[in-house]
Amino acid sequence: MVRVAVVGAGGIAAEHLKHLHDNEQVKLAAVCDIVQASSERAAERYGAVPYTDFDAMLDHESIDALFLCVPPFAHGDMEEKAAARGIHLFVEKPLGLDLETVRRKARAIREAGIIAGTGYCLRYLDTAAKAREYLQGKTIAMVRAHRFGSFVTVPWWKDRTKSGGQLIEQTTHNVDLLRYLAGEITHVSADMALNVMKEIDGIDIPDVYSVNFRFASGAVGHLDTSFVDQPDSRSGLEIIGRGFRVVLDGTSLTIMEKNWTMTYKSRVNFYKEQDDAFIEAVAALDPAGILAPYEEGMKTLEVTLAAHRSSETASFVKLGTE
Ligand SMILES: NC(=O)c1ccc[n+]([C@@H]2O[C@H](COP(=O)([O-])OP(=O)(O)OC[C@H]3O[C@@H](n4cnc5c(N)ncnc54)[C@H](O)[C@@H]3O)[C@@H](O)[C@H]2O)c1
Repeated sequence: MVRVAVVGAGGIAAEHLKHLHDNEQVKLAAVCDIVQASSERAAERYGAVPYTDFDAMLDHESIDALFLCVPPFAHGDMEEKAAARGIHLFVEKPLGLDLETVRRKARAIREAGIIAGTGYCLRYLDTAAKAREYLQGKTIAMVRAHRFGSFVTVPWWKDRTKSGGQLIEQTTHNVDLLRYLAGEITHVSADMALNVMKEIDGIDIPDVYSVNFRFASGAVGHLDTSFVDQPDSRSGLEIIGRGFRVVLDGTSLTIMEKNWTMTYKSRVNFYKEQDDAFIEAVAALDPAGILAPYEEGMKTLEVTLAAHRSSETASFVKLGTE
């Protein structure tokens, strides 16, 4: 059995707890949240021990793997503390808000030799796997991506110092999927603004973003994202090459060539696939099935941080220069 603890008993933790509970290889040992009622509610539901203090939990419980589900600003040194005890880590995206801090955590993880996965769950879509397989060996000309949604009401989201803003916190999924399907991004330029949602009390994050990418392959790309309460939410991407087009619209995939079109509907729950893959990796001490290892999450963070830097400095940012 893999003994698991969950830290941060909010929205995404509820999703993980469900799948962890259903996994026969898992014993849910403990749940920690600084809000006592939250840790107790989740712990009681799943027969785990509640904690409000992370260090006390590590001292009292024997844990194999930790699911870190706290908001982006609240990671502190939990990764380093877990790594020092040889506890494997599943870390929700984004991995943090500052690249140097996340690099330090990555070093601690590497040196401890623990398994570390991240919450870039779209990589676990069956349709993403089909798209990746189709794109193998093909030359990508350009990519387009978008994510249009609504304001997220958790209290920390509107605060740039706590969430990083929509691109870093939420649309990071779409940037990560672009990297997964179209390869490494080398340059970023971006424009962003708080344009129409200004009446929200205390908001200081942009509500519209326009981002350009250059890929190592020579492909160029573009992503738009906003949360200005359009009538419908949309998320997707399009990858174009000579004679083909790959479109992921939500979770559905369409591949087009001149004389044929194929459409696939996803059949999986990507959260379940992701959590099962992580638990299997820990049980077998083999990270091969983890599609979004910590280092990948770090590269995706670097892209979104570079977009902010580009917007602030009105420049074209080369990655790897910070
Ligand atoms: N992969 C996904 O699809 C997905 C979806 C939603 C959220 N997320 C990510 O998950 C993280 C959490 O988001 P959420 O929506 O669950 O937020 P949330 O606000 O619903 O829950 C966060 C919880 O963490 C607790 N917390 C804060 N600081 C803590 C600390 N130091 N120790 C212990 N508990 C602490 C809070 O009390 C709260 O209960 C964010 O990084 C977010 O980006 C990922």
